[in-house]
Amino acid sequence: LDIKVANTGGNATSGYAYGVMFEDINHSGDGGIYAELIRNRAFQGSTVHPSVVDPWTAVGSAALSLQNLSDPLSSALPTSLNVAASSGPVGISNPGYWGIEVKAQKYTGSFWVKGNFNGSFSASLFNYLSNATLASVEVPSNASSNDWREHTFTLTPETDAANVNNTFRITYDASATDGSLDFNLISLFPPTYNDRPNGLRIDLMEALKGLNPSFLRFPGGNNLEGDDPPYYLKWNETIGPLKDRPGFPGTWTYENTNGLGLIEYLYWCEDLGMEPVLAVWAGFYLSGPAINETDLQPYIDDALNELEFIMGDASTTYGALRTSLGYPDPWVIRYVEVGNEDNLGGGGASYESYRFQAFRDAINGKYPNIFVFASTVAYNFEETEDVGGDYHQYTRPDYFVGQFGFFDNFTTGQKTMIGEYAAVQPNIPQGGGVNWDLPKFPFPEWIGTVSEAVFLLGAERNADKIWGAAYAPTLQNLNSYQWTPDLISYSASSDDDVLSTSYKMIELFSAHRISEVLPVDSPDFGPAYYVAGYSNSSDSYIVKAAVYNSTEPVNVSVAFEGVSEGAEGTLTVLTAPEATSFNSVGSDVVETSTTSLTAGSDGVFSFELPDLSVSVLEVKG
Ligand code: AHR
Repeated sequence: LDIKVANTGGNATSGYAYGVMFEDINHSGDGGIYAELIRNRAFQGSTVHPSVVDPWTAVGSAALSLQNLSDPLSSALPTSLNVAASSGPVGISNPGYWGIEVKAQKYTGSFWVKGNFNGSFSASLFNYLSNATLASVEVPSNASSNDWREHTFTLTPETDAANVNNTFRITYDASATDGSLDFNLISLFPPTYNDRPNGLRIDLMEALKGLNPSFLRFPGGNNLEGDDPPYYLKWNETIGPLKDRPGFPGTWTYENTNGLGLIEYLYWCEDLGMEPVLAVWAGFYLSGPAINETDLQPYIDDALNELEFIMGDASTTYGALRTSLGYPDPWVIRYVEVGNEDNLGGGGASYESYRFQAFRDAINGKYPNIFVFASTVAYNFEETEDVGGDYHQYTRPDYFVGQFGFFDNFTTGQKTMIGEYAAVQPNIPQGGGVNWDLPKFPFPEWIGTVSEAVFLLGAERNADKIWGAAYAPTLQNLNSYQWTPDLISYSASSDDDVLSTSYKMIELFSAHRISEVLPVDSPDFGPAYYVAGYSNSSDSYIVKAAVYNSTEPVNVSVAFEGVSEGAEGTLTVLTAPEATSFNSVGSDVVETSTTSLTAGSDGVFSFELPDLSVSVLEVKG
């Protein structure tokens, strides 16, 4: 394979090529990147997922029951936990999101109590395998039956616990009560990324940082949409004090706390240097019902309110609200997606005929610089101009490789993003796409990862059309999930983090950003697929390649126009033992070889790429 790369005549890239997609699925928010350790901290529920006591259990002889008091902690959190006992040391215990990692570090906690109590609570971390208290603190109380009172504390274990079989407990002397106390919003945080209050889990943020991501698409996915009326992800219920966030029944089988809300997403973007790609609710529920055209305006207004909340100054209604919540500095939104996969809605949802245009016209009327795009590329809008969209693809490896040229005829102008993609099932003799009735890969498998690389190379070659791509789903709690495969998996123990084979591939591609795609003479694709370009940040020439379905190693020679004999290059090649190899807890199958190369007399770099490999050649300019 001879690759001759010109040094002019290509297309500038958007600079956003690789990003992150986020929605609360697989306990990726609650029980995932949102660092809260207490599961069911506020007994949130809905008609879809009624409030439960689980996983709270009693310590001692207390009887636990849920109460909807006439004077609840807040209208958003109407249900509380009544702990009834008249004597003895009693209390409540929570096992966290399938375990609590306890380290020698500071934990910050709080809880609210209503009821007469004359004494102090003991807040502790407890290992139930060894029956050992790992850390404990006395929390003086002036609890009263007149109102709800907040208690705050810190806990600092002296050593790391051996495992995550730990609980958080609040205990007290019941004889100092009138027979029962009500508890709500019981929260415990470890240190968070950048020390943000109500912040994010450090190990998972570091894992994401390793991808060098340029954008965050949030907050969905299906989870934005809600299944049925009246539930969808309402931005204004995800802001402010936690006691004012009601949560909502996410579309992925569990109630969301909305502790991870709009402000937290924006800090997440800020902390990892990512462009926010904000999805607004499009008036369309996942199960099909759509707000019709005549009733849509309040929802369009709501999207405008959300944008004003994020971007407005204190003289605006919603900018003032943000300021009053303690965030005087606005953020900037440049990308807004209308809905999620609205093209998939049956029942005459009419996304095409009015919905998208109505949102876009209103948003651009107020914010002309925002790129408002559709949640589909199935354009059939009643207009002649080109529309930006979001392409999603979950498929099999062969099908992905067949999509290498898929974007060649798309509209130029960087109008399309790939908001979700993944190889999710093995190849089948008859070919074709995914069969949703069959099992999917538990973890990304290497052949799928290589096929995704081929697909991404097709996108990078078309960088004048495709402005960015994000694998989905991004996160998976290994103890409770709805979807595989996922990019990063984890449990309560940060030792269990799994950076998948696809993570490794994206990490490599994302670390070598092309700022200008360069033309290649007589391109010849398959079994090797590639893109060539120049990086102005590192002043280097780059060829990214993937080899798929080759009977023998591919001999490659690469010549960059203007690069001559003696130039130095570095070739990084990723491989795995088998097509079916995958990363899992404690195992990383991806082999990385890094070789220094020197251009020969004709300025050519010569090397060999094995089958099922992903590689990057970088040559300093
Ligand atoms: O990534 C999982 C789901 O796949 C998303 O929620 C949805 O957008 C897509 O159908």
